Amino acid sequence: MQTVALDVAAVRRDFPVLDQTVDGKPLVYLDSAASSQKPRQVIDAISRYYLHDHANVHRGVHELARRATEAYEGSRERIARWLNAADAHEIVWTRGTSEALNLIAFSVGEGLGPTDEVVISEMEHHSNLVPWQLLAARRGVRLRYAGLTDDGRLDLDHLASLIGPRTRVVSLPHVSNALGTINPVQEIGALVRSRSDAIFILDGAQGAPHLSLDVQALGCDFYAFSGHKMCGPTGIGGLWGRQALLDGLPPYQGGGEMIERVYPEYSTWAEVPHKFEAGTPNIAGAVGLSAAVDYLEGVGLDAIHQHEKSLTVSAVSALSEVDGIRILGPEDLDERAGVVPFVLEGASAQDVATILDAQGIAVRAGHHCAQLVVDRFGVSATVRASFYLYNSNEEVKRLAAGVETARRLLLP
Ligand code: ALA
Repeated sequence: MQTVALDVAAVRRDFPVLDQTVDGKPLVYLDSAASSQKPRQVIDAISRYYLHDHANVHRGVHELARRATEAYEGSRERIARWLNAADAHEIVWTRGTSEALNLIAFSVGEGLGPTDEVVISEMEHHSNLVPWQLLAARRGVRLRYAGLTDDGRLDLDHLASLIGPRTRVVSLPHVSNALGTINPVQEIGALVRSRSDAIFILDGAQGAPHLSLDVQALGCDFYAFSGHKMCGPTGIGGLWGRQALLDGLPPYQGGGEMIERVYPEYSTWAEVPHKFEAGTPNIAGAVGLSAAVDYLEGVGLDAIHQHEKSLTVSAVSALSEVDGIRILGPEDLDERAGVVPFVLEGASAQDVATILDAQGIAVRAGHHCAQLVVDRFGVSATVRASFYLYNSNEEVKRLAAGVETARRLLLP
């Protein structure tokens, strides 16, 4: 089936925030890997929910409690359809990817000890690194890091050499937030299964917003994602997991909602996914995220991916014209999502980003919560432009012109 090209002008009409100037210059928002903007449809869905339907969920017999519960659980079903999960019970709501990964590191980690190993990589966002370090400190588990190739891909031979009978967990990013690399996760899943009984977890923070997903085909056991990077609200995200695995894990937090029965000495747990959802949840967030999925699927995830790819090709080509630019990440642009990290040799990333900001261009500068990545490539920080469905070729041209201006100002 042919992918229908994305109509950027029509998409931009849905994002009122983009239609503004910064110090008299039209805003160019190239920081969607940090957080995406929200279309009207998502904002309206949240407003509608609060204007008409809000109450607490699962607790009341009254009309509003019924409606709120239907909205909340209906959103879970929507997420399950989007991910092609076998059942909506396989979706656990969390605050986002970080909480999802903390949940799984804690709950899986409760069964691990000093003879066990967890394999991650030098490509990790800190959300898929620090929770495993905490586990290593708590239970003596050995943490191992797969290295990277010089063009920012996972070194699969090194990864394979780390996986063996002691490996209990392999947890990797689907797409790197700091390099843009799209990892060959099906191949890695097969590798994990051929060498161990480890569970395979994917940090999908940068994959879910941009790629068409089918968790049953990806070859992983758990997939973590954030709403705010995919046109949804902040403070909502989730963890997909195979139900048999979720059933066998202990809870992550205690409180209301997650119990079946409480006695003075002990408690029993509610069924999955409620066992992992202590406390009043982010109901409006779930409603907003489900509207975001409707929106993204309405535009088409394949069309979004193709559009971002074409912006990335243009950006890499235009930025390469600037003297002293070094672009990090895969040279084969088929292996790169819409993330272009770069350094301007001799200039600080912060200074370049500040000069871009003065031209209305929003990018992120720093280590992007992936300190091992910048260490691996011998820099202290990069400037990162990240694209989404609402960005245009015109904006890519403004980015390249802006970086050329920064070069002239900083390296005269
Ligand atoms: N993880 C987010 C980023 O990459 C915040 O910018």
